[in-house]
Amino acid sequence: MIHKSTIDRVYETARLEEVIGDFVQLKKSGANFKGLSPFSDERTPSFMVSPVKQIWKDFSSGKGGNVVAFLMEHEHFSYPEAIKYLAKKYNIEVEETEQTDEQKEAANERESMYLVSEYAQKYFADVLWKEDLGKAIGLSYFKERGFTDDTIKKFGLGYGLDQWDAFTTTALKNGYQLKYLEKTGLTIVKENTGVPEGSKKFDRFKGRVLFPIHSMSGRVLGFGGRILTNDKKAAKYLNSPESDIYHKSKVLYGIYYAKQAIAKEDNCYLVEGYTDVIQFNQRGIENVVASSGTALTPDQIRLINRLTTNITVLFDGDAAGLRASLRGIDLILEQGMNVRVCTFPEGEDPDSFAKNNAYEDVIAYLQEHAKDFIQFKTSLLAKETANDPIKRADTVRDIVNSIAKIPDRIKREIYIQECAGIMNISEAVLFNTLAQITKKEKADSAKETRKEQKAFAVVKSELPQVKVDVQYELERKIIEILLLYGPVMQEFEDLILKENEEGDLVLEPELLETKVYEKIYLDLQEDEIELTHEQFKTIYYRLIEALNETEDFSISKFISELDQQLANEISSILMEEEKYTLHNWERKDIFPKEKNSGVAQLVSETILTLRCFLIKKRILVLQEDTQEPSSENAETLEEIMNYLQLNKLLSKKLNRVLS
Ligand code: CTP
Ligand code: MN
Repeated sequence: MIHKSTIDRVYETARLEEVIGDFVQLKKSGANFKGLSPFSDERTPSFMVSPVKQIWKDFSSGKGGNVVAFLMEHEHFSYPEAIKYLAKKYNIEVEETEQTDEQKEAANERESMYLVSEYAQKYFADVLWKEDLGKAIGLSYFKERGFTDDTIKKFGLGYGLDQWDAFTTTALKNGYQLKYLEKTGLTIVKENTGVPEGSKKFDRFKGRVLFPIHSMSGRVLGFGGRILTNDKKAAKYLNSPESDIYHKSKVLYGIYYAKQAIAKEDNCYLVEGYTDVIQFNQRGIENVVASSGTALTPDQIRLINRLTTNITVLFDGDAAGLRASLRGIDLILEQGMNVRVCTFPEGEDPDSFAKNNAYEDVIAYLQEHAKDFIQFKTSLLAKETANDPIKRADTVRDIVNSIAKIPDRIKREIYIQECAGIMNISEAVLFNTLAQITKKEKADSAKETRKEQKAFAVVKSELPQVKVDVQYELERKIIEILLLYGPVMQEFEDLILKENEEGDLVLEPELLETKVYEKIYLDLQEDEIELTHEQFKTIYYRLIEALNETEDFSISKFISELDQQLANEISSILMEEEKYTLHNWERKDIFPKEKNSGVAQLVSETILTLRCFLIKKRILVLQEDTQEPSSENAETLEEIMNYLQLNKLLSKKLNRVLS
């Protein structure tokens, strides 16, 4: 874990506009910066950065937050990755909290393995670009495949000399330990080979061109090495073995280069091989990753699922493996993703197709030929089994099996209807088959429903508030005031009911100096007012707590401790104003013209308005109660009278504040 002091320093030091400026071209706009949204394709800027508040808001996607949230959204970093990125940018030393000796050792081991892998990548690339044999064999191979210099550099491609231990010897000479060379599989150690030292070391990737495999955040985890000869006995590709840093089932080749484009295009192309990924990139299509020849694993699907729910699987032209591959796709459906498939003309694969066609033609082809998976599978199998009733029955079950994997019930039903059409079978039969299959899985179904309900609850709370809701607006305003002026000292005027010399009750103004948040807290508590919107209520209590605890309250820091949804909410509240300046709209309700001037008035006005509103609402409810004759009516009427009295008093106060 990263130490809290490091995190604090990072937040103190990092300048949001500088960090975002590395990714988005920002232009000064009043007190803020604006630019084109990096999360969608747009022509007019709707992306705002506030250097004062140290928060950003993207009005086209609704995303927003502080500096770390930006890196997590844009670079798809985890929280610690984002902190480390910032620490590096601002030369802040990262302190880790105390770990147990084993944890430390494991972390150090992994770190050493990362370092060895990074070194190896540089070494192999150097060989490729600088050594005669590297240029003559490795570089010329890649050029022959049609890769440009830029592409070869972008993907960090390299070459391992065709010598027993050229790499291992150099790495050892440069201080890298054999232990880690062996653990990463870069070096193979053979014991008791009869030589005097008792063991012999070999380079795993000798005589192969190398494709480094990166993690989502760009660290080198391992390599794929392609043989250059047509030796049928040796494997065409040799990959790094499983290790503490390389888990084949958890990585996707190309994800580091693709993540941004996948999120932006809201679609991921899935291909089989390294060269498919590279050729697509060179053609200008970056939202592509490779499963490296095997079926996708759940972990790999999750990796994509973080970025998009849409996946398009691209198949080679040879139909041989197609049928087998279809089965693997059920796994993708199971995770609720929308799957499309696209095949290429006979004898072509994504690599050759992207190499031989212009960008526009590749895009057009993909658009035209990518078919919804279920439809594709149904059509394919329907054709294959047209004249064979028994096979046809199997096919139906096979397809319904796929449909059964889709978690969304409505989608399932639509697919059943479509398949009935394609297969020319009654819907009832298909629904029956579906029911049979799902019944078998009934054991898990209770669990599933609970999950579905949970998911639904989340969706529900994410739904935007549509109708104008006075209470909603007022509660939101209170949060806004707390965020902007919470710790500010202000003089508040209150009207106190007093007896004058003649013995009459009059309202007398009294001045009271206090911090804005204290005033709000006490006033709301006095009337026992709770914010009713869950998100505001949570933010409210967190804010009061934070304002109470810290002398130098910072919005950005505060946001960092909230979950993404609440952070988004706050960014929206704070950037609302900017949205108007963005479009140069006139604002109807004017916020204090000068900062801090009129804050006290704003606070009093907002709270009084909320109190009046709640009282009126209460009166309405009570009046409705008295519609039905009952013995308690008298009591209720009295209560109404009291509330009306209070309302009058509050209105008076409000008028005074407003005048
Ligand atoms: N693969 C592998 N080991 C093998 C063969 C293949 O790991 N022995 C993986 C590689 O990731 C490879 C992918 O499966 O990229 C697809 O295999 P293939 O289509 O044979 O390779 P291509 O990428 O098309 O390579 P090339 O065009 O160079 O033949
Ligand atoms: Mn190929």
